Amino acid sequence: MSETAKITVEGKTYELPVTTGSEQEKAIDISKLRALSGYITIDTGFKNTGSTKSAITFLDGEKGILRYRGYPIEQLADNAEFLEVAYLLVYGELPTKAEYTLFKESITHHTLVHEDMRQFLEAYPAKAHPMGIMAASLCTLSTFYPESQDPARPTEAIDLTIHRLIAKIPTLAAWAYKNAMRHPLMYPLNKFEYCENFLYMMFANPSEKYYADPVIVSALNKLLILHADHEQNCSASTVRIVGSSQANLYASISAGVSALWGPLHGGANQAVIEMLETIKNDGGGLDKWVQKAKDKNDPFRLMGFGHRVYKNFDPRAKIIKKAADDVLSKLGVVDPVLDIAKELEEVALNDQYFIDRGLYPNVDFYSGIIYRALGIPTEMFTVMFALGRLPGWIAQWKEMMEDNQPIGRPRQIYTGENERDFTPLEKR
Ligand code: SDX
Repeated sequence: MSETAKITVEGKTYELPVTTGSEQEKAIDISKLRALSGYITIDTGFKNTGSTKSAITFLDGEKGILRYRGYPIEQLADNAEFLEVAYLLVYGELPTKAEYTLFKESITHHTLVHEDMRQFLEAYPAKAHPMGIMAASLCTLSTFYPESQDPARPTEAIDLTIHRLIAKIPTLAAWAYKNAMRHPLMYPLNKFEYCENFLYMMFANPSEKYYADPVIVSALNKLLILHADHEQNCSASTVRIVGSSQANLYASISAGVSALWGPLHGGANQAVIEMLETIKNDGGGLDKWVQKAKDKNDPFRLMGFGHRVYKNFDPRAKIIKKAADDVLSKLGVVDPVLDIAKELEEVALNDQYFIDRGLYPNVDFYSGIIYRALGIPTEMFTVMFALGRLPGWIAQWKEMMEDNQPIGRPRQIYTGENERDFTPLEKR
């Protein structure tokens, strides 16, 4: 007997089906509600509304659980390579050795970006924010592969686009950085693994041999894994809704980059460091800032704190906090901002305002401290988030397309003027 929910409006009762997920999550399916009752539901910001069923990522905000395709994030972060996790998210299973060899070979051989892309890059001012360059560059890639714009493409053609995106995003990211520095662009070398190649393109220069510190490579690998997917967050939902119009994958990913840029989402990792630097330079105690964050009349918020879903702790923040300690001690880096971050966490976690609202450090609170120790400039932090999140966005887009989901088009409740007649200009 399938479960149902009853809703009574204007004296009439309607029965709606209940959907139960593989982790026993429950949802009332309202797809027939309007046809039955004339009513829609409204949930600004979709805080309580599911947009889709999905088999990619499971998270439990109360228990601080995060799993990609059933694998706990803790196990993947400690044992997997980022490209293995990318394969897992996109294709649903961890690759066999043979599958992984082929996948890595394909990625390696698509890292080059069409030489004409340099012209766009060189047109940007040095102060151009790299997220603006990334969003534009990823959408521009679609113009170099016009066949990618055909919605009815065979699987192997879609796979080629997926591999091209995963392969080229590090090159585009490193080139955006080099362009801002007005340093010569470094081209990907096939002898390097994924993370090493990115670090090479970021920090090498033509006049000297480059050596990637294994500590840095390992930390980057872990950070990319921790950012790889997070179910229906703002940017993933953006990728899905743009893709639902059958816009090509490059355009859908570009839209995801734009959504991620916001300081309430992926832009928070840059905002956290800027906030901690401000607190450090202010020289005063933390209490003033905690009070500002609690003051409804003050726009200041503790960046890197709070989460739409996690109301106890963000499991990624726990892993990144420990990794920050490890990386800084292994690299012999002393960063006073890390101490401020820890003190701020301590103060906030003992403050009733934060406790009552379930506000804890999220994935962005400590990640910037590691990126900084790796030598990555602050404005590139959200680009690093996009590098990690790309496979998740692709997996969400692919699942939506394979489910043949309809174009996303929410309804609304109109609150504007009722009908009125046009008044000619001379009478206004
Ligand atoms: C990411 O969705 C995802 O999965 C995102 C992400 C992913 O992997 O894709 O996890 C990545 O985006 C992490 C979040 C990064 N953003 C920040 O760190 C920015 C700072 N955090 C906030 O702006 C906020 O916490 C959000 C945006 C993250 C969540 O906001 P919600 O769920 O809409 O909650 P809300 O704004 O309604 O806040 C509830 C209450 C409010 O107070 P009251 O009106 O109840 O009195 O908590 C307060 C808020 O004022 N509050 C904060 C706060 N965050 C929420 N107060 C002070 N500082 C904060 N950071």
